[in-house]
Amino acid sequence: MTVDAQLTRLGLFDARVPRYTSYPTAPHFGTSVGPQDFTAWTRAIPAGSEISLYMHVPFCRRLCWFCACRTQGTTSDDPVIAYAQVLKAEIALLARHLPKGVRLSRLHWGGGTPTMLPPAEIRALTAAIFAMAPMAEGGEFSVEIDPNEIDDARLDALAEAGMNRASIGVQDFDPEIQKAIGRDQPYALTQEIADAIRARGVRSLNADILYGLPHQTPQRIAESVQKLLTLGPDRVALYGYAHVPWMSKRQQLIPSDSLPTPEERLRLFETARDLFIADGYEAIGIDHFALPADGLARARATGGLRRNFQGYTDDAATALIGIGASSISRFPQGYAQNAPATAAHTRAIREGRFSTTKGHAFAGEDLLRARIIEVLMCDFRADGPALAAQFGVDPGWLSGLFATVAAKFEGMLDFEHGVLTIPPRAHPLTRMIARAFDAYDQAGARHSAAI
Ligand SMILES: C[S@@+](CC[C@H](N)C(=O)[O-])C[C@H]1O[C@@H](n2cnc3c(N)ncnc32)[C@H](O)[C@@H]1O
Ligand code: SF4
Repeated sequence: MTVDAQLTRLGLFDARVPRYTSYPTAPHFGTSVGPQDFTAWTRAIPAGSEISLYMHVPFCRRLCWFCACRTQGTTSDDPVIAYAQVLKAEIALLARHLPKGVRLSRLHWGGGTPTMLPPAEIRALTAAIFAMAPMAEGGEFSVEIDPNEIDDARLDALAEAGMNRASIGVQDFDPEIQKAIGRDQPYALTQEIADAIRARGVRSLNADILYGLPHQTPQRIAESVQKLLTLGPDRVALYGYAHVPWMSKRQQLIPSDSLPTPEERLRLFETARDLFIADGYEAIGIDHFALPADGLARARATGGLRRNFQGYTDDAATALIGIGASSISRFPQGYAQNAPATAAHTRAIREGRFSTTKGHAFAGEDLLRARIIEVLMCDFRADGPALAAQFGVDPGWLSGLFATVAAKFEGMLDFEHGVLTIPPRAHPLTRMIARAFDAYDQAGARHSAAI
């Protein structure tokens, strides 16, 4: 049987599985976690330790049709400026609970489009954040930048505040594909912004590119990847386009019959992957590529690769606090998510309380299963005896669990001496294999696309 036929038989091309940026995944969060948990978990962070901070800005000047992110369109700066005041109030509230001497190993601004913030607000927010918790030595301040929504003044403000990693959204350079996904972005503009970022001494440039877009062919994605390579990004995320029009209404503007078939998606991914590898990038997990000197490549080599809400990371901090509407925090005790709607989040902060509406407190096998899923997604390998010792569970029981999953995937996985390995031919199945360890998942639940 060909590998494709085997992948088909194992359901790769008709399954919808989560990307496992958390375990349990956000759809399984419940309302038993509230602001009191967020406060208690924040207060329990050890004084003087390093944490990560994520800030969500849910605004965009234009709404790209393909986008499934939590954001809203606005042509005026007023709602963004009003939201920045809420963020500052939230930072002041957080500062009252955060133990002394905490520093930031990572600060990430995402969205939406954080560069919707005017320069004065960029300065005010970074000042407030660093007054609460300064950057740790070697820390990273990264910002998602839409090349269509940035100018010299905003870039200057970000660079002066210490941004040392910029992540630009590319998606695809082909004009016909851009038209079909409602995102006009000439190559020349992207190049100009990449140059402007580097001219300000920003150490690292990341780019997002998508496969599985309407009208995409292997030849077209190859051309887009080659154009992207001329910009020399340090790190690339090659995401599979998730077509979820029932969740993201604007995707209804993209007819389903213009999309490549699941088998074609796999070819598109492989075409792009082979070009990155040929150009000296290392494959990181299921969908990232990084130059050997990049932090992700180094973390992969030393077993330090982790997974969080932004995808892959080399951040070792055990607490990640999310501020802004819909942001999710992760603590050693569990997850806490802020109110998804900007209005509800704003109301809570103005009333002087955190907006936590949902979450999950870790219990039972959660942390063990979370770690199995994380190592499979990061290293394609789970060492049963080591995990059993780390989590204090019976190695025989864990070995039985691994054997059951290995059997389910009909010889596609290697299982020897208690170590479960996903060989390269089975890498496209990684999310499905991770799902086999997900005790909350109901097969067939609607998440994002499989690959
Ligand atoms: C939250 S967006 C922020 C980027 C920034 N606003 C921009 O447009 O450049 C981050 C990334 O999510 C990815 N993304 C958004 N919608 C997606 C979808 N439906 N499927 C897969 N990836 C998606 C895109 O690659 C995008 O660059
Ligand atoms: S891709 Fe970026 S700019 Fe476009 S709608 Fe999504 S967050 Fe906004």
